[in-house]
Amino acid sequence: MRLDAGICTVRSWRTSDLGSLVNHANNRNIWINLRDSFPYPYTRADGERWIKYAKRQIPETNFAISVGGRAAGAVGFHPQPDVHRRSAEIGYWVGEPFWGRGIATAALRAITNYAFENHDLCRIYATVFEWNTASMRVLEKCGYVREAVLQQSIVKDGRVIDSVLYAIVRKEVAGRESQVASQDSDFPQPEARGS
Ligand SMILES: CC(C)(COP(=O)(O)OP(=O)(O)OC[C@H]1O[C@@H](n2cnc3c(N)ncnc32)[C@H](O)[C@@H]1OP(=O)(O)O)[C@@H](O)C(=O)NCCC(=O)NCCS
Repeated sequence: MRLDAGICTVRSWRTSDLGSLVNHANNRNIWINLRDSFPYPYTRADGERWIKYAKRQIPETNFAISVGGRAAGAVGFHPQPDVHRRSAEIGYWVGEPFWGRGIATAALRAITNYAFENHDLCRIYATVFEWNTASMRVLEKCGYVREAVLQQSIVKDGRVIDSVLYAIVRKEVAGRESQVASQDSDFPQPEARGS
């Protein structure tokens, strides 16, 4: 998979990405904004495990953000189980030397479109730690809507903090489906109801 996002490319992970993955991922300033399942320190073994996993995934939902041909970050979406199966959680990070150039915004925009076009999703969401205003800004620039503050939902680095829930929905699909549902409904339609 390869998406041209202008300032960067979103593409499949390659074995040759290992050096640059470990170089950028091994950073406390990235770890502090991600789940604890993202390791710190981030070792070569962690990188090897990650690339192996991502390359084998079917369907592929985890990608490298590539700048100048080298992995500069990561983006992935994770379809949820059971009744949440048409929702996916999105996650991303960009290596610190690349911050502030619009790379996360370009990658998130590209992967959001890709996920909606290639998967049967109606909702993509992210939960952002309360201090991560840069990530909130990225989501807002990509059309994600701030839906809620989830109070005391996160334990990170020994602190209990709030997170902020952002989501984007595939409005045109949702609209069409609710139209079909209302046509099929046994209940009287608004125009058929008496005053
Ligand atoms: C959050 C992150 C992905 C942003 O990547 P990036 O490539 O620098 O993002 P962009 O350049 O596309 O956009 C960043 C925006 O945030 C703004 N921003 C940066 N730091 C900010 C801060 N402290 N407060 C408010 N806004 C901030 C920038 O000005 C920019 O907005 P603008 O275009 O309106 O000026 C990157 O910092 C990162 O990887 N952080 C660690 C991991 C992480 O937080 N992942 C997301 C978890 S939800």
